[in-house]
Amino acid sequence: MNEQKFQEKIDLERKIEPKDWMPEEYRSHLIRQISQHAHSEIIGMQPEGNWISRAPSLRAKMILLAKVQDEAGHGLYLYSACETLGISREELVQQLHDGKAKYSSIFNYPTLSWADMGAVGWLVDGAAIVNQVSLQRTSYGPYSRGMVKICKEESFHQRQGYEIMAEMAKGTPEQKEMAQDALNRFWWPSIMMFGPQDSDSPRTGNAMKWKIKRQFNDELRQKFIDQTVGQVKVIGLEIPDPDLKWNEERGHYDFGKMNWDEFWSVVNGNGPCNIQRLDHHKKAHSEGEWVRKAARSYSNKQEIINA
Ligand code: 3HC
Repeated sequence: MNEQKFQEKIDLERKIEPKDWMPEEYRSHLIRQISQHAHSEIIGMQPEGNWISRAPSLRAKMILLAKVQDEAGHGLYLYSACETLGISREELVQQLHDGKAKYSSIFNYPTLSWADMGAVGWLVDGAAIVNQVSLQRTSYGPYSRGMVKICKEESFHQRQGYEIMAEMAKGTPEQKEMAQDALNRFWWPSIMMFGPQDSDSPRTGNAMKWKIKRQFNDELRQKFIDQTVGQVKVIGLEIPDPDLKWNEERGHYDFGKMNWDEFWSVVNGNGPCNIQRLDHHKKAHSEGEWVRKAARSYSNKQEIINA
């Protein structure tokens, strides 16, 4: 009976809130997805954080600093949304450290030049926006509200990245070459962010039935490609896909074969930077223990004072 009432609520587009009855599978599906999303935000701070001290100007440094701080905030919203499902922050972090929880494949790739800051902001945050705008309509209330807040900040992330790429593309020949190299290295990993093809996406069935996902992986990937090709042309760079071609009949760009072996290898923890990313997170987490202790003792003291 509960299942039927639950599904009726979903079908009526009513949000599911933390105290509502929900199938255990719905809860665990959300914990998995929201925790991965949160881990992605926090791990994603590393490739960009590496360039804060090497930004080419004070303005560039301030913008990148603000962006990386935003990502920490996005992680906070998403961990908090995840905790409403009955799992603690400590458990979530432990699952990440144990390799039991994933984070977005894209953050397994190194950032080798300043142009990569442009490619990451423009392509990675651009892809995340396409995915997250859709997720604003997800059925779980705290996740949906977190997405609305996050989407407001992502467009700044995407614009600042595109500005870096546009400036370098019209700069010296070396700068243009650096921008093209960054595009060459980040194009395919960025479109892999949307997940496997729908035919290979084991989670999508339930995700669509429960309206956790509102659009299919392939549909969002295609939307991102269609909207990005024009942006690449404007700044005079080339997309590293010889099969990319407008298909009038489909009304979309056809594109080349994706390297799904690379995708699954990265998703299963064999990405080029995975060990480095997790080691860095473990070190930062243990060095931050005193901050968590201080915050806890302060809040305990406040509780005693207010009791
Ligand atoms: N990276 C890592 N793992 C991925 C992945 C990717 N790009 N795509 C799929 N996977 C994993 C899934 O998590 C699932 O693994 P699991 O069963 O062990 O959890 C498996 O591969 C099968 O994939 P499915 O398509 O069946 O899984 P989903 O239905 O969950 O779809 C998804 C994958 C589209 C990534 C979906 O989980 C999703 O929309 N997640 C929320 C959005 C998100 O995580 N975005 C991260 C972008 S980075 C970011 O937002 C930071 C920004 O500031 C740049």
